[in-house]
Amino acid sequence: MVARIREWASERVPLRLSLIDYIQEPVPDHMNKFWYAMGATPLILFLLLATTGILMTFYYVPTPEGAYESVRNITYGVYLGWFIRGVHKISVNLMIFTLLLHMIRVFVTRGYRRPGEFKWLIGAVIFLTTLALAFTGYSLPYDQVSYWGSVVVTNMMGQLPVIGKSLLLLLRGGEEVTEVTLLRLYDMHTKLLPLVILGLIAAHILIVRIVGFAKVEGSGGEHPFYPDHVFKTAAIAIGLLIIVVNLAAIFPPMIGQPANPQEVPNNVAPPWYFAAIYKWITIVPREAGLFGVLLFFALFLIYPFLDSLFTERGARMGRVNIVVGTGAVAAFAGLTLLQVMG
Ligand code: HEM
Repeated sequence: MVARIREWASERVPLRLSLIDYIQEPVPDHMNKFWYAMGATPLILFLLLATTGILMTFYYVPTPEGAYESVRNITYGVYLGWFIRGVHKISVNLMIFTLLLHMIRVFVTRGYRRPGEFKWLIGAVIFLTTLALAFTGYSLPYDQVSYWGSVVVTNMMGQLPVIGKSLLLLLRGGEEVTEVTLLRLYDMHTKLLPLVILGLIAAHILIVRIVGFAKVEGSGGEHPFYPDHVFKTAAIAIGLLIIVVNLAAIFPPMIGQPANPQEVPNNVAPPWYFAAIYKWITIVPREAGLFGVLLFFALFLIYPFLDSLFTERGARMGRVNIVVGTGAVAAFAGLTLLQVMG
């Protein structure tokens, strides 16, 4: 009976056949190591973010009067609201952390090298869009920390040379942080940026599949994408879920005092993923500091093309990347610690 139903169904919707045939491809054996197969991790966390985010939009009110109250209600009133909000907050921090690890992996192994430069370029734009998604979300609870956090970060953006002014007006919807700013950040956070990231992730994975994985010395054999790699990714997803659920239970979300534009709290600080940039522009003379930030991100975006340029001139980029990568990670960690330790 079941076999007859399956036969009837697969004759009319041959999903099983076409789907596996479509995703099937030989995967190099080095992808058996988690270090090489981390790319799926930020994707799984993004899906967790989208699911918990949609659930919270059923209660969130994007107005200065309603925002704080609705997040307080989600945290202390709505059944399992604290858990949904907790999973959301943990997932965004873990997504940025796993993105950094994924980038370090592809940087150290030069997984972007010719003809894979666009894998990196699209990836780099995903990273910047994820930071924008995190910042817009950070501003929505409208308590003192998130309100002044959004003032500090939009201020920082506003001082960037060339693009600063328009970026500030785009984010604030005017010169000051007002109810328009909150509505704009809410629309970016719940509509524009998630759609942009979904499109970019699809383009990123598609180009990795079309161009193929960068060769890794000593990795000879291959294994099928389905079932090996698919089941491995499923195991990673379950592992991540257990970590996120436990962290949400151990560090349940809180909410501080309601936002008060007249009272600047003494502990104003940007979220950890902006701490290094914030510290950098507070210790280096302003113009030089801001120009340094823009230069860093410009080099970050085009790095694979610089790699091809120097490789053609005989540079040993594998070694260069170890030095550059270690320097960048050390600078990021050092500045972040300096900022967080205060
Ligand atoms: C949500 C964000 C991202 C997702 C879902 C994602 C997903 C993936 C996946 C599934 C792969 C296949 C190999 C692997 O698992 O490592 C991959 C490879 C790659 N990714 Fe990402 N990635 C993301 C962000 C980034 C970022 C931010 C960068 C760099 C700035 C980047 C650069 C690359 C490169 C260069 C490769 C090719 C590696 C190779 O061929 O060995 N990705 N990505």
